[in-house]
Amino acid sequence: MADKDVSKKVPIYKLKTTEEIMKYYDEWGKNNKYDKDMVEWDYTGPKETVEAFKKYANNKEIKIYDAGCGTGLVGVELKNSGYTNFDGVDLSQKLLDLVPKGLYKNLSKADLNKSLNIKDNEYDAVLCVGTFTFGHVKPLALDEFIRITKNKGLLCFTINEGIYEEYGFDKKIEELTESNLWKKKEFFKSNYISSKNVNAWLGLYEVIK
Ligand SMILES: C[S@@+](CC[C@H](N)C(=O)[O-])C[C@H]1O[C@@H](n2cnc3c(N)ncnc32)[C@H](O)[C@@H]1O
Repeated sequence: MADKDVSKKVPIYKLKTTEEIMKYYDEWGKNNKYDKDMVEWDYTGPKETVEAFKKYANNKEIKIYDAGCGTGLVGVELKNSGYTNFDGVDLSQKLLDLVPKGLYKNLSKADLNKSLNIKDNEYDAVLCVGTFTFGHVKPLALDEFIRITKNKGLLCFTINEGIYEEYGFDKKIEELTESNLWKKKEFFKSNYISSKNVNAWLGLYEVIK
């Protein structure tokens, strides 16, 4: 089954390189345009992901890594659901500057397509919402997410339906499952940006070490 062609639904989807994408976000962040667009588009990725996560993460004090936190929309959902201990990382300094002060314990700038400067087993969970999409972060990042997560910790992420097979997320997920590196808890098609007829796969996996 081929991916649905959603490549023309959102302007940023046509960009290919990290450099082009960062430039685009620098502009998109201005005057809070990104956050305004997300409200206007009824972008439900952060809410849907945290709703799924909550069903499995009962302890609200666990240490969470929000990978590709952008302006902090996932942090807002985590806070609203009572979580108290989460860090955010993103490659766009301009978006990081827009995150509400005090929302995350720590914010840092890093490229998720590279090795992370984080100890093994540092986190109880990794959330990654809206970041596995056209030209952004590739499937190899899942290896790093597993490395920094504790045994029985959770990974919860969205994958834009338009790149799921094209970028090899289907194969990577199969490989991690067959290698017993994680166990599937949830995997379903979420609404994501349904106002634009763009959905995302939402996966929730328990890490096995
Ligand atoms: C669609 S936004 C999602 C932001 C936030 N998670 C949300 O749901 O609103 C995608 C984010 O991925 C970040 N990003 C793109 N490529 C990246 C990379 N290579 N490393 C780290 N972050 C990246 C962008 O800067 C942007 O903040």
